[in-house]
Amino acid sequence: MLDAGPDLAVQGVAFLFPGREFGLTGVTSTSPTTFGGWGHAADGKADGNRTGRRRTQTTADGSNDRLPIVQPFRGTGGPSGRDRSWADRVDRFVAARISRIRPHRIPYRPYVHRKGPRIVTTSIIVGGSGGLGRVLAQRFAGRGDTVIITSRTSERAKTVAVEIARTVRGLAVDLSRPETIEGALSDVREVDNLVITAITEDFTTLADFDIAKAIHAVTTKLVGYTETVRVLHDRFTPGASVVLFGGLAKERPYPGSTMVTTINAGITGLVKTLAVQIAPHRVNAIHPGMVGDHPRWRDVPENPQVSRTPIGRLVTMAEVADATDFLLHNTGVNAQDLFVDGGVRVT
Ligand SMILES: NC(=O)c1ccc[n+]([C@@H]2O[C@H](COP(=O)([O-])OP(=O)(O)OC[C@H]3O[C@@H](n4cnc5c(N)ncnc54)[C@H](OP(=O)(O)O)[C@@H]3O)[C@@H](O)[C@H]2O)c1
Repeated sequence: MLDAGPDLAVQGVAFLFPGREFGLTGVTSTSPTTFGGWGHAADGKADGNRTGRRRTQTTADGSNDRLPIVQPFRGTGGPSGRDRSWADRVDRFVAARISRIRPHRIPYRPYVHRKGPRIVTTSIIVGGSGGLGRVLAQRFAGRGDTVIITSRTSERAKTVAVEIARTVRGLAVDLSRPETIEGALSDVREVDNLVITAITEDFTTLADFDIAKAIHAVTTKLVGYTETVRVLHDRFTPGASVVLFGGLAKERPYPGSTMVTTINAGITGLVKTLAVQIAPHRVNAIHPGMVGDHPRWRDVPENPQVSRTPIGRLVTMAEVADATDFLLHNTGVNAQDLFVDGGVRVT
């Protein structure tokens, strides 16, 4: 007899095998929760007829009563006898496994790397010398992470690193010269969090297409981001994950965004292929809308984007940083595009 397990087990089975029918055949639940809510069979014929054993369920008042039989997600047509036997075996196997999982054994480990007596995380933010990357670096350093930021120049990287916190390291990395990335990152020993935000403003239109800018934009964001992940991959700790920055321009072009729209859409594809190739490490993309308190936008008077945003304002740097943290640390989220845009895509 299972105690409180069957409900969890049934949910787990249905979750793991959506579209199949699963029931805990032959199991008598003593949980006060019945299987109600998973759908009731139209008649009592299915009662225990997989194994011939009688199925009973316990009512909320504790009495063993024969309730309407519940067959979660029963498909049309019904399985063959062979399928039933197979399904029974899967039912029992998965139910047994799931019922053994205890919450403390679920591998959610937000800050995973242990160094010495305290747990710290090593975060590298490529593009951490400015804008959203810098806000992230401040957040991570503020909670005691080991943080490395990059800039295109060593001088700026070191200056900004010291401004953020004395513990932060600054490295020179130029993603527009991908062949130099491996050498530039050779000092990085291990990585728990890799965030790549780097971008340069390579605005161009089709009418005035600037080939040099277009090549620079594609090289920096698509080739440079990819090479950075490749180079650091062998230094990932077991729980390491990656967040790549795209942007809402991938869905909403604006004048001059020809290449920005293109490369941010490319981030969606890059995440998909990386998720397969760096598995079991996770990789996700974040796509902010226009960030209202970013130095580039905060002084724009009466920004027309505000009235189009359902939350009545532009998103903030802190909100983007918070969402990035979520993607880095939620161990179930992988290969996703997360929009942080205040809902502007529905207007
Ligand atoms: N700001 C927004 O409203 C907004 C909206 C949507 C999406 N995004 C996305 O969010 C990310 C960050 O944007 P941001 O506006 O915060 O950027 P930002 O303020 O312009 O900062 C850009 C960062 O990238 C670095 N960088 C520039 N060119 C580089 C290169 N060739 N190689 C390596 N690093 C380079 C810069 O370092 P140095 O200058 O020190 O070299 C700086 O640290 C971008 O991917 C962008 O597409 C931003």
